[in-house]
Amino acid sequence: MNYYTTPSESARNILIANDRGGYTIPTSGLYPYQWNWDSAVAALGFAEFDINRAWVELETLFSGQWADGMVPHILFHKPDPGYFPGPDVWGGTGPIPSSGIIQPPLAATMARRVLDMDPVSGKERMRALFPKMLAWHRWIKAWRLDDHGAVCTTHPWEAGRDNAPDWDNTMAAIDASDVGEYQRRDTSHVNSADRPTKYDYDRYIKLVNIGREAGWDQAKLLELNPFRVADPTMSFTTLRAARDLLAVSNDLGLEADGLSADIDRLEAGARSLWNEGLGAFDARDAHTGEWAESVSNASYLCWYAGIESARMLERVKTVLTTVPHPIPSYDPHMPKFDERRYWRGPTWAFMNMLTGFGLAEMGHGVEAEALRLKTARLIAGHGFAEYFDPLTGGPAGGNSFTWTAAVWLHWAGRN
Ligand code: SER
Repeated sequence: MNYYTTPSESARNILIANDRGGYTIPTSGLYPYQWNWDSAVAALGFAEFDINRAWVELETLFSGQWADGMVPHILFHKPDPGYFPGPDVWGGTGPIPSSGIIQPPLAATMARRVLDMDPVSGKERMRALFPKMLAWHRWIKAWRLDDHGAVCTTHPWEAGRDNAPDWDNTMAAIDASDVGEYQRRDTSHVNSADRPTKYDYDRYIKLVNIGREAGWDQAKLLELNPFRVADPTMSFTTLRAARDLLAVSNDLGLEADGLSADIDRLEAGARSLWNEGLGAFDARDAHTGEWAESVSNASYLCWYAGIESARMLERVKTVLTTVPHPIPSYDPHMPKFDERRYWRGPTWAFMNMLTGFGLAEMGHGVEAEALRLKTARLIAGHGFAEYFDPLTGGPAGGNSFTWTAAVWLHWAGRN
């Protein structure tokens, strides 16, 4: 009898253990609901051993789509007092209790990958999902673009990179003095040094309050919301999703009017995030026009969006050879670098996977493979953590994490 559990068996077991019936929680305790972009990554992991379950994950995500096309960042399928802020604080107005913001749109891209893994079984599932994904794309186009065509995030949680230094200047201008008392839950599940500070949390809650009080009316929020930042995560993932939707519409003969023009506009917008002074793709406050001056792991998603950059290629080569466990979520040479604090330094395996997809697709196979092998070593050596210290590889945040397991199965751990 062999008692040794391989990493692939562990990864499958994590997905199965985090399955709550039709949707997968990111990890028990810290994140007890369905998160939008986590779910899209989870689908890739399931597709490696249960392709039907992969489609179900995406279908459940879109079961929470609002009438106007928005797909919320959290679906509160069942109450769980261990999480804050819950459905009452958010006051989402969709068919399932939810938050009121989105997350970077990975679903169309991951659905296309799942389809490619089994086109026969997937075709009808894709046909049913396609109009919903297109409606979400159109919602983003209607409500999130800046004047250049770059895609804005309207809450740090919307870009998914909660406490990234990208938002520091914009957050500093937010008055959160009236948020009152509330009980955070995240720091009772994991080490508080790995999580955002109270200063950040006050502002997160303030922005939720503004949205809820406006009934999540996007036209009103364009006026009311002080947080609007054109961001590489939103811009690159939206552009990539639009390219995948167009490819699927061509392959399956599905209506996608205007999508080619949207792609041109989104590409111009994504390119506008090039900060020449910094030498990297950067975030830009949509209200003030100010650059964040931040080299983050989202800066490296250019190839994922089909955008070439010689300067970013030089950067990725440097990061691969100088940072022990790349790609850090924030440049270790910059003063705000904090190796354990969530999006201010740690390495995220799923961001590496997205970057790896892009590098490979755009002909940078050597860098893609180096990144994949380093990510595999990180996970095999330190477990299926939410994120990792880029200097020591130490696991941080939650453990037994769905998207890290999915990354192992679909990309990092492949032979
Ligand atoms: N990531 C946020 C949290 O920590 C919400 O999306 O709860």
